[in-house]
Amino acid sequence: MKVLLVNGSPHERGNTATALAEIAKALETEGVGSEIFWLGTKPVRGCIGCGACRAKGAGKCVFGDDVCNELSGRLAGADGVVIGTPTYYGQPAGQLLAVLQRALFSNPACVAGKPAAGVAICRRGGASAAFQCLNMPFQMLNCLVVGSQYWNIAYGRTPGEAARDDEGMQTMRTLARNMAWLLKNIRRDGALPRPAAEEWRPTHFIR
Ligand SMILES: Cc1cc2nc3c(=O)[nH]c(=O)nc-3n(C[C@H](O)[C@H](O)[C@H](O)COP(=O)(O)O)c2cc1C
Repeated sequence: MKVLLVNGSPHERGNTATALAEIAKALETEGVGSEIFWLGTKPVRGCIGCGACRAKGAGKCVFGDDVCNELSGRLAGADGVVIGTPTYYGQPAGQLLAVLQRALFSNPACVAGKPAAGVAICRRGGASAAFQCLNMPFQMLNCLVVGSQYWNIAYGRTPGEAARDDEGMQTMRTLARNMAWLLKNIRRDGALPRPAAEEWRPTHFIR
């Protein structure tokens, strides 16, 4: 069992990384593997809504010149996912949203039905809005959104400062334990199968 921990910050070793490392450590204690995947700082594109990824059934974004398809591939290979972001103006980092939206639209199966959680870091405020924003796609992709003892938020400004947010780090460990518990129960012998999906009947509100 493996959980992919996506670092959506442009800082490889910033506070988002600190929070994800705390999750990784607690997962390891629970016997669950993990991998931190940093999106990097190279330019990324936003979704242009061309629909080519779906029309061709490719399961990939047609723009292959940034980290998007690598992200969806790594998500697809994971049993559970955590997406971490710094808070920018009360929102997730723009580069993270740009690639995440394309990864999920071109390959929704990469997260569908999996245990998933957002994590947001901030200096002072706005993290709850960013956190909520990260969870929005999970909740419409049949994911099992994993909670903790508080919203998955930690505080810090300069790199590593979040390690001193005791309650924030405890929140990350609790999240990891809940994620591990859920994964083990889903995978155990005799676990009930997930409910069958109804056929999708889109209405677009005009018909
Ligand atoms: C463009 C920008 C916008 C920011 N907006 C907020 C904000 O709305 N609220 C806040 O508390 N911190 C804000 N911050 C601070 C970062 O969220 C904070 O320093 C965080 O720890 C950075 O995480 P990282 O080290 O993983 O990059 C902002 C930082 C930047 C660069």
